[in-house]
Amino acid sequence: MHKVAITGTGIFTPQETITNAELVASYNDYATRQNAAHAGEIEAGTRAAMPMSSEEFIVKASGIESRYVMDKAGILDPETMHPRLTERADEDISIMAEIALDAAKKAMDEAGLTAADIDAVICAASNHERAYPAIAIEVQEALGIKGFAFDMNVACSSATFGIQAAADMIRSGSARAILMVNPEITSGHQEWRDRDCHFIFGDVCTAVILQRLDDATSKNAYEILSTRCLTEFSNNIRNNNGFLRRTREGHMEDRRDMQFRQEGRKVFKQVVPMVAELMLNHLADEGIAPKDLSRLWLHQANKGMNDMIGAKVMGREPTRDEQPNVLQEFANTSSAGSIIAFSRHSADLPAGSLGVICSFGAGYSAGSVIVRKVA
Ligand code: COA
Repeated sequence: MHKVAITGTGIFTPQETITNAELVASYNDYATRQNAAHAGEIEAGTRAAMPMSSEEFIVKASGIESRYVMDKAGILDPETMHPRLTERADEDISIMAEIALDAAKKAMDEAGLTAADIDAVICAASNHERAYPAIAIEVQEALGIKGFAFDMNVACSSATFGIQAAADMIRSGSARAILMVNPEITSGHQEWRDRDCHFIFGDVCTAVILQRLDDATSKNAYEILSTRCLTEFSNNIRNNNGFLRRTREGHMEDRRDMQFRQEGRKVFKQVVPMVAELMLNHLADEGIAPKDLSRLWLHQANKGMNDMIGAKVMGREPTRDEQPNVLQEFANTSSAGSIIAFSRHSADLPAGSLGVICSFGAGYSAGSVIVRKVA
């Protein structure tokens, strides 16, 4: 068995941002228009008035202050309320592959690898813009990588599950170096017309290079000591869109369940203990005491969730340095969140430092990756 290391990461960040103030103004404009359009029904009591959103609620409930998006104008237009992305010809690079290439090149630079050194590509994300051919194969082709590629989806845990899949392949020898990309255009499946969730998501793409530890030359390499993945079925985060849509009467209409929806409170209550237990059991089985951890790079969904998970794992409140959050700037970027935290906050630790990359989300799904700084 070969030892495996993460030797490079990269982040593609869209150029446009939406602040909470801009988001709330647009949503409230939309809700006011809807209420005016349906004033008769609301007065007759046959329809509920749409409630207004508030910046104060968003920051207090989630810790999110802003988000990056691929198309701000469409999302903020009260007559549209979703991103408008131009359709591309089959011959042109698709948008998910395009943002993946940007992140991939940054990760390859950090690892000091060229396409010739890589022999597999995994595209791990919450949604893929088409059924086939795989986005990963398009990325592979665009970079000139030989070998094989595939897409996978475990919602917000896609990246940690992707790391486990890649690490297992490198350990056993079926690949020597693997590029994993996480293009998350969450604005496409977010419901911007629902105040309960309109503030949650943002767009981004992350990339990770994994390779044999023996081959690593990166100045920021982390050995993967162990990975652990866990799933438990739940309908509390769900999106019913899929390839059978047109076979079902009424499903081609503008239906709420074709976008992201969740029972946020239940998710919060059920996922926090599940994730803390996964991490604590994983650490115990590897003989690592929580007090020996220098950093937790957690999934970035909600500051309150991260505070609770961090406290349960460390046995005390972690410092900001021990548990860096990026969600105030990026919002929830699904599978990319813990990788952004890792990418931005891993270079400063000294050799020998231990940490855990952990993600969690729909499924339910949760992944824990224990790493040790090499150089
Ligand atoms: N502005 C103002 N008020 C709002 C609002 C908004 N944008 N959205 C909801 N509210 C209201 C609700 O209607 C509710 O009102 P009520 O008490 O009169 O019924 C109240 O605020 C509390 O709403 P609730 O949804 O219970 O808030 P919460 O404290 O649970 O926070 C989440 C909501 C989504 C931030 C939180 O549940 C969460 O983060 N859950 C984790 C799940 C997650 O993020 N999953 C993503 C995939 S991993």
